[in-house]
Amino acid sequence: MKFFLDTANLDELKKGASWGIVDGVTTNPTLIAKEGRPIEDQIRMICDIVDGDISAEVVATEAAPMVREGRQLARIHKNVVVKCPLTRDGIRATSELSKEGIRVNVTLCFSAAQALLAAKAGAYIISPFIGRVDDTGWNGMELIRNIVTIYRNYGFRTQILAASIRTPNHVIEAALAGAHIGTMPLKVLEMLFHHPLTDKGLDQFLKDWAKVYQEASVAG
Ligand code: G3P
Repeated sequence: MKFFLDTANLDELKKGASWGIVDGVTTNPTLIAKEGRPIEDQIRMICDIVDGDISAEVVATEAAPMVREGRQLARIHKNVVVKCPLTRDGIRATSELSKEGIRVNVTLCFSAAQALLAAKAGAYIISPFIGRVDDTGWNGMELIRNIVTIYRNYGFRTQILAASIRTPNHVIEAALAGAHIGTMPLKVLEMLFHHPLTDKGLDQFLKDWAKVYQEASVAG
């Protein structure tokens, strides 16, 4: 499973990237707006930190301007993946951009039917939002499982990116379901490291080590 960071914040990206396990980055208009820079500058800086797929989202809502914006975003850096929303226009733009060889991440996916449309349009990535599905009282993980089954049934090569991940358990469940990628806030990535028995065990190892070797150095 590839791990992406779901943030446009450079400090968070530097911190996460320093651990050597981050494969890419997803951004959206909300995350870019938080950082206060033009999208081209922010995406370029992100590309300098993480060497992997970097999603940059269009804000146009009609197909033709979306395609134009997508081409501009793709020109920023070879690692940019253009993000289009799962609307009729977004799917038309995805189909056109994909035919031009521009990789598209189709975002705001909330149903298996929508995921099927994205795969048929040639999407490189589909982004089902599991946390937001859970928020509505439905089951986000069921959505991932259904998309995995449908894509396998037909051999679609579109990668399934579990988005709107809120907890470490979302990551594990998405991995068990077969999602290719999980994108998560830095906070969730940090939480994956934690286990009380790791801390307790390490503490004991170091105490035992110090006891013997400190005693040896005193005796010697
Ligand atoms: O990038 C989209 C996504 O991951 C949003 O997550 O927590 O705002 O639902 P969230």
